[in-house]
Amino acid sequence: MNGSAPGASPGLFAERVGRIGTEEAFKLGPLLTEVEADGRGRVIRCNLGQPDFPLPTHITEAVVDALRAGHTTYCDPQGLPELRRAIAASVGGERGLEVDPRRVVVYPGSRPSIGLTQHAYVRAGDEVVYPTPGYPLYESFVEYVGGTPVPVPLQEDSGFALTGEELAPHLSLRTRLIYLNFPSNPTGGVASEEQLAGLAETILERTPPTTRVYSDEAYEAIVFDGARHVSIASLPGMAERTIIASAVSKTYSWTGGRVGWAVFPTVEEALVQRNLNINYYASIPPYSQLGAKVALESPASPPAIATMVEAFRRRRDFVVDDLNQIPGIRCQLPRGAFYAFPNISGVVESLEAEAAFAALPEEIRRRSSPATLFALFLLYRYRVATMDRRSFGVRGSEGRHFLRISVATGDEDLREALRRLQQAAADRKGFADFVRSGERLAY
Ligand SMILES: Cc1ncc(COP(=O)(O)O)c(C=O)c1O
Repeated sequence: MNGSAPGASPGLFAERVGRIGTEEAFKLGPLLTEVEADGRGRVIRCNLGQPDFPLPTHITEAVVDALRAGHTTYCDPQGLPELRRAIAASVGGERGLEVDPRRVVVYPGSRPSIGLTQHAYVRAGDEVVYPTPGYPLYESFVEYVGGTPVPVPLQEDSGFALTGEELAPHLSLRTRLIYLNFPSNPTGGVASEEQLAGLAETILERTPPTTRVYSDEAYEAIVFDGARHVSIASLPGMAERTIIASAVSKTYSWTGGRVGWAVFPTVEEALVQRNLNINYYASIPPYSQLGAKVALESPASPPAIATMVEAFRRRRDFVVDDLNQIPGIRCQLPRGAFYAFPNISGVVESLEAEAAFAALPEEIRRRSSPATLFALFLLYRYRVATMDRRSFGVRGSEGRHFLRISVATGDEDLREALRRLQQAAADRKGFADFVRSGERLAY
């Protein structure tokens, strides 16, 4: 599972760096450049985890104003007090909770709090529970910090929903952290209040009061069909257990702003994170934080978000429809986020990708899968970039054949990508030649 296993230079690295995983999405960039280097056309990017909308102007202006006003120095390592107040009001107001700004910690994006909560809570052998398929960084950190990974498989036939009953067998007195992510990356699952009540009941029953739920709500604003985002922290007894995490990255189409936050159950826990921030970053750029404050408070933000969400909904509808027309592919309708997550088992079967995979050397098989081979074939021969199932949690990915297709790409590009996907899915000879060429069989 490891992303940077030391070995090429014996004796150079500490053993622990071999235990951290990675986010494959970042490995794809150089491959796209490699494919495009022949000058025979650009790759259609359906791999991206970032909205394809510009940063709303009122936020850009706030950042520029802050830069001009000289907000370019170190600042409070826990986050600017005025931003923490804005986060407390927004997170608390939307979830019906009283949030003390002293419980809020600002980070450079959503990512850092995933690893830093593991640093803070997980002792040797403690169990860390997370969904699979799920955002890869939950799994990535566990062995790095000496914990035991406990993946909870999400089932396609129950719409990838995670119920209390499904979670129960994975919990124990050793459970220290439970990652939940609604709306979900990569499945687009949105939890109902009833489902969250079942999860809360199970967690309260089966784990000690020191167990923390990390509720990753990075896609909180991107829900469709009248669905409403509900946080598990809003349920009785859960605010005391839950770390609520989110960021400006998806909601305001601002992945480069690098502002995220987490609300901790106690001030004591927030102060531990504050100290980790001091050690790692000193502080987060104040001009970005001032832009984030405007993003959270400005009346110009909700209409900008609504325009983006409506575009994602419209694209989701035709992408899922078109995917379901392709022989060998079936795709559920995601209710949030901006990804389709089609099952491509029929394609894997008709291209005999499992047999092709089984015949590969062990060194490649360790880093690949039949769906990876198809995703790479699609990239190298049809110039469409997607992500494979294995990129969303290695454990439990065996025998599961899915792709993640981001709809954060223009309509025409998406339609063309689907045409190419259909051709690739039927190209038995092309696939066999590609695998035989050995050009690129793992990320
Ligand atoms: C579920 C989830 N959580 C967290 C993140 C990290 O977001 P950020 O860019 O704010 O670090 C992502 C990014 O793709 C995500 O999908």
